[in-house]
Amino acid sequence: IKAKPWGGRFQEELDKFFEEFSESISFDHELALYEIKASLAYAEALKEAGVLLEEECLAIKKGLLEIEEEIKAGLFLFRKEYEDVHMNIEKALFEKIGEVAYKLHTGRSRNEQVVTDFRLYLADRVKEIKIELKSLMQATVDKAEEYYGVIMPGFTHLQHAQPVLFSHWIMAYYEMMKYHFQRLEDYEKRLKICPLGSSAFAGCAFGIDRKKLAEKLGFIEPTQNSVFAVSSRDFALELLFVLSLIMLDLSRWCEELIIWMSPEFSFIDLPDRFCTGSSLMPQKKNPDGAELIRGKASSVNAAFNQLWGLMKGLPLSYNRDMQEDKPPVFKAVKTTWQCLRLMSLMVSGLILKKENIEKHLSQGYLLATELADYLVSKGIPFRKAHHITGQIVYYAEKEKKSLENLTLSEFKAFSDRIEADVYNWLTIENAIKRREILGGTGFNMVKQAIELAKKELSER
Ligand code: ARG
Repeated sequence: IKAKPWGGRFQEELDKFFEEFSESISFDHELALYEIKASLAYAEALKEAGVLLEEECLAIKKGLLEIEEEIKAGLFLFRKEYEDVHMNIEKALFEKIGEVAYKLHTGRSRNEQVVTDFRLYLADRVKEIKIELKSLMQATVDKAEEYYGVIMPGFTHLQHAQPVLFSHWIMAYYEMMKYHFQRLEDYEKRLKICPLGSSAFAGCAFGIDRKKLAEKLGFIEPTQNSVFAVSSRDFALELLFVLSLIMLDLSRWCEELIIWMSPEFSFIDLPDRFCTGSSLMPQKKNPDGAELIRGKASSVNAAFNQLWGLMKGLPLSYNRDMQEDKPPVFKAVKTTWQCLRLMSLMVSGLILKKENIEKHLSQGYLLATELADYLVSKGIPFRKAHHITGQIVYYAEKEKKSLENLTLSEFKAFSDRIEADVYNWLTIENAIKRREILGGTGFNMVKQAIELAKKELSER
C-alpha cells in the first residue's frame, strides 16, 4: 500500500469514509505558510547537522518556496486524501523535486510540526489582536476626553446610585482592556517556545541545533521537555481563556450601550452605520452591532470549554483527539479580532445625549449618600446618619420632592443638626468634587487618569 506515508505496515487501503472522516486539511490549511516557514528552517538545521547535502537542502528550499508562492497566489490544491497540511506540502514537494523531498522528514514528526505551526500562527494572531485592543483603548480614552465633565447617574443593581463622570465610567473599560493587553504580553512568553527537535515525543535522533532553529523561527527558546512539547495544548487554552475574558468584558460594555440607547435611558446614540432597522416596523433603529458582539462572546467562551474538555484526562503524549483543537481556536481568534475592531469603531462613533442624561440626574436620589455624609460632618455616627437619611428619602419620595427641594424645617423634623449649609452639599457637582481620591470620580482625578492613559498608550 503505497498511497500513505505509513503504508508499509498496512495490508489494505484506508476505508474511504474513514479517510474523509479523519482529514484535517479542510481547516489546518490555515497553517500552510507556517508549515513552509518551519520546514525551511528545519531543512537548514538538517544540513548543518550533516544529514542533508548542500544541494539537497537547496533543492528542498527551492521547492518549498515555489509551493509558498502557489499558496499565496491561491493556486495550491489542498487534497483531502493527503489528510493534513503537513502531508499535503510534503506530497507537493515530492511532485516538484522527487525523492529528495522525503529526506526533509528525517527525525521529524507531525506531532512536533503541528504544534510548531500552531504556535507560529498564534504568535501572529496575538500580534493582530493586540493592535485592535490598543485601538479600542485609544478610542475609549478619546471618548472619555471628548465628553470630559459630563455627569451621569452611576448604577448598582441597575438602580440609580451616585453621580459619576461619564469619562470615569468608561475608563473602567480602558482599565479592563489594559489588563487584557498585559495578559497577552505575558502569554507571549509561554507561547513563543519552539517544539521542533522533539520529534514524535522522544527527541530528535539527529543532532540538530535546536536553539538556532528556535531563534531562526522567531521563538524565544526551544521547549525543554520533548514529551511536554508534543502533548501540551496549554498555549492554546491560555489564549482562549484571555480571549474569553476580553469577550466577557465586551459583552458587558455592549449590554450597557444597548440599555443606554433604549428610549427609557436615552443616554446615547450610535451612528446609523452600526445599527439596523426592522423589516416590518419602519421606525426602528436597533443596536445590532452591540448585540452581535454580546452574542459572539458565547462562542469564544464555548471554544475555551471545548478545548478544555478535549484535553481533560488525555494521557501523554500525542493523541489524535488533539487534531480537534484547531477549529475552535481558529474561530475564537477571528471572532475576538472582529469584535474588538467593531467595538472600537462603535466607541469612536458613540454620541452622548447630554441633555437627556442631565434629566436623569434629578431622579433616584443620587445625593442621598451626600446627605448622610453631611450628617456625619455634624458628628452623627454613619450608621445613624444612614438611617436618618433613609427616613428623609422615604418622606421626600412620598412628597414627590427631591432632597435639595426639601425646606429646612422639613429637614429639621428628622434631625436638628441640619442647617442651611446642607444645600451646599446637595448638588451633583459637589458629589463629584468630594471624590478627589486616587481612582475616584473627582474631576481632577479623572483628568489625571485620562492623561496617564494617553501616556501609557503612547509608550506601548
Ligand atoms: N493533523 C494532525 C493534528 O492536527 C497532525 C499530527 C498527526 N500526528 C499523528 N501521529 N497522526 O493533530
